[in-house]
Amino acid sequence: MSATSGEVVLGVGAGIAAYKSADLLRRLQDRGYAVTVVPTPSSLNFVGAATWQALSGRPVASTIWENTEKVSHISIAQQADYFLIAPATADLIARIAAGRADDLLTNLVLASNAAMLVVPAMHPQMWSNPATVANVATLRSRGYIVMEPEYGRLTGDDFGQGRFPEIAKIVSQFDAMTGNVADFTGKRVLISGGGTREAIDPVRFIGNRSSGKQALALVRAAAKRGAQVHLVAANMDTSQLGAISTTHVESAAQMRAVLAEEFASCDLLIMCAAVADARPVTTRIEKIKKRLLTSIELEPNPDLLAELGARKEHQILVGFAAETSDLIDSARGKLVAKGLDIIYVNDVSNGAIFGKDTTSGIILTRTGAEIALKEVSKDALANVLLDYAIRQLG
Ligand code: C5P
Repeated sequence: MSATSGEVVLGVGAGIAAYKSADLLRRLQDRGYAVTVVPTPSSLNFVGAATWQALSGRPVASTIWENTEKVSHISIAQQADYFLIAPATADLIARIAAGRADDLLTNLVLASNAAMLVVPAMHPQMWSNPATVANVATLRSRGYIVMEPEYGRLTGDDFGQGRFPEIAKIVSQFDAMTGNVADFTGKRVLISGGGTREAIDPVRFIGNRSSGKQALALVRAAAKRGAQVHLVAANMDTSQLGAISTTHVESAAQMRAVLAEEFASCDLLIMCAAVADARPVTTRIEKIKKRLLTSIELEPNPDLLAELGARKEHQILVGFAAETSDLIDSARGKLVAKGLDIIYVNDVSNGAIFGKDTTSGIILTRTGAEIALKEVSKDALANVLLDYAIRQLG
């Protein structure tokens, strides 16, 4: 595997398990990740900077007062695709939960939107302390993946939950987060994206602001995970996609026809497209003269997703919604009404989601899970949605 799996910050906290992260670093490199190690200052008591420098082949700093000319706390954050914080001590988790920035690692966490995997290791008493329990819940509510420490013997004679998990388990959890797995091999994934356009006349249409960026992220993530992907693209730029099977459509009616044909053979439908809610009753063949363009009579479009939800057999259905208020209630209603397994509701209350590379919202599943995501990349959301979908696909 070449070093193309992504740029990783390996954050090392001050736990005795820090020495195990030297092996973790090696395994990440074997899997094609490029890794910058950022130890906390007190973790250097366990493993020194020279070890990390030699193993990673990169400079290592633990405070923002080193290499200040490079403004490392921003430049490393911008470069990172993923964070793996292992081991994470109770103190480090508390500092991240509180939004502190008192060393280089916590500065980076604060300055980044990258996907984060946190691997705690601490004494069982500290792990079960209500303060740590609350801090871990805070991180999870922000979309961080926090692994459960293992049961077993601790550094002293004590026994309980707090051990650093096996390296192989950490690596497979990390691969699942980054999409560096082939868990969709043999699965057919149908994805709709972009926004439909409903023609008024040969020149004008009713459209919406969907850019198709989230659909592109889903296509890339599903294909990377081994899926056979078909994209139904409504008025979006697919020039960067390469060899993905794609059907271009313009209107909701055209999208409906393509989906109707492709649906039977898919295992997973991700309906990311913004389908226009209504269309002109008639489309003029000739351009309407400016002085006559005073009103347009509309009729509702059929709900494509609800139609497919009613006819689904083995398929898993994922819907998207955009709301400005009552996010959870309205999304839960749509989940049921449209026969969905998973829905992601974008929080568009500040109007800033369209065309951006990040997203904030809530994932709801038929099985009752509720995950809030704040300013995560659209690539990270794609992988989290695929994680939930593959669990339901079995
Ligand atoms: O009802 P609302 O538009 O919020 O639902 C959003 C979900 O339903 C999206 O997944 C969208 O693609 C789908 N939808 C559809 N047909 C419509 C309207 C929305 O498939 N006419």
